[in-house]
Amino acid sequence: MDRDPVSFLSDEYQELVRNDLDWRIKVLQGPSTPWCNVDGKKVLMLCSNNYLGLSNHPRLKEAAIEAIRSHGAGSGSVRPIAGTMDLHTELERRLARFKGAEASLVYQTGFAANAGLIPQLAGKGDIIVSDELNHGSIIDGVRLSNAERAVYKHSDTADLAKVLDETERRTPSPRRILVITDGVFSMDGDVAPLAEIAKLASEHGAMLYVDDAHGEGVLGEGGRGIVDHFHLDRSKVHVEMGTFSKAFGVVGGHVSGSRDLVNFACNKSRTWLLSGSHPPGVAGACIAAVDVLESEPQHVKSLWDNTVYFKKAMRDLGFDTGHSETPIIPVMVGESSVAKKLSDRLFGERMFALPIVFPMVAKDKARIRTIMNAAMRREDLDFAITAFEKVGRELGII
Ligand SMILES: Cc1ncc(COP(=O)(O)O)c(C=O)c1O
Repeated sequence: MDRDPVSFLSDEYQELVRNDLDWRIKVLQGPSTPWCNVDGKKVLMLCSNNYLGLSNHPRLKEAAIEAIRSHGAGSGSVRPIAGTMDLHTELERRLARFKGAEASLVYQTGFAANAGLIPQLAGKGDIIVSDELNHGSIIDGVRLSNAERAVYKHSDTADLAKVLDETERRTPSPRRILVITDGVFSMDGDVAPLAEIAKLASEHGAMLYVDDAHGEGVLGEGGRGIVDHFHLDRSKVHVEMGTFSKAFGVVGGHVSGSRDLVNFACNKSRTWLLSGSHPPGVAGACIAAVDVLESEPQHVKSLWDNTVYFKKAMRDLGFDTGHSETPIIPVMVGESSVAKKLSDRLFGERMFALPIVFPMVAKDKARIRTIMNAAMRREDLDFAITAFEKVGRELGII
């Protein structure tokens, strides 16, 4: 048959290039610090999720080196066979204590946690009720499930109530209902109304799953996350999912909740059962990250001080920072082409801030997404504000 089996590879890639939708990856030549080397240039980092600067913290680096010395470079297996080391169980014990949960389970990544666990929690005869702006890893987890799906309007609890009422009126009535939401939404930096969501879930006998990837290390006392932030009864939030790849500064996903949840999750999640476990260096560094969060509260405080200062200065200049309630601070510009131009011009002014454009956000909602960092000094923030003002005026954004 006259068929080119791989021509689509270059066709589809070229199509992305033509539409200016391809990723042009910039490369860090050294650690992720406020000032870092990117593509040969020293720039101020404004788009890393390393909120607390822990990825370069001496205690984490030492712990990683020490774990490699004591346990080697790799774990040798998947967790259920021969890949569970004492470092993994210690990390789970420490994380559960930090979260105030009965138990925690560590996955290779946050994506692996969502993709592995969600399809096991709800299947045929069940229904998953999901916020329309949930993260892609939740969406993929939901796609892997045989459950029916219903989507409610972003953070709209009246719409969620309506969807739950409709769900309960179905015949036959669903076996289980799973309500799932991001805690902090990564494109806008807004916080889900989790207390109201928890109340509605409870009234409808639904399970509640929150993805707190951007809330941990940021919200709640000492960065304990969104459940702590709203002082919620932990038994009403059945799955608290998170990641070590953002504020914790390393890599790895996790879920916390009841012992029953963890027993279920580690026996059922295919991503956990069928993929190699963290190398010792990663597990060691993650334990140290929990230690640092418990013993050095200054990082979370400084993250919030920087957030308040930067956001106010940007708003005073006339920038639209959208619905941000957290260190994720979008600078809304509208057109994709303007966002791209702004990002390029900022890079020219030695600032690394990425544009977020369609299809990641709606066509008229393109933005530069800035992310605050605890390790930035006041002069770094002033540098950023001055550069934004200069370029913003040049491009007619303010
Ligand atoms: C809301 C949310 N959930 C999950 C993930 C995935 O986490 P990880 O990087 O650990 O795979 C991300 C990362 O972008 C995220 O923003």
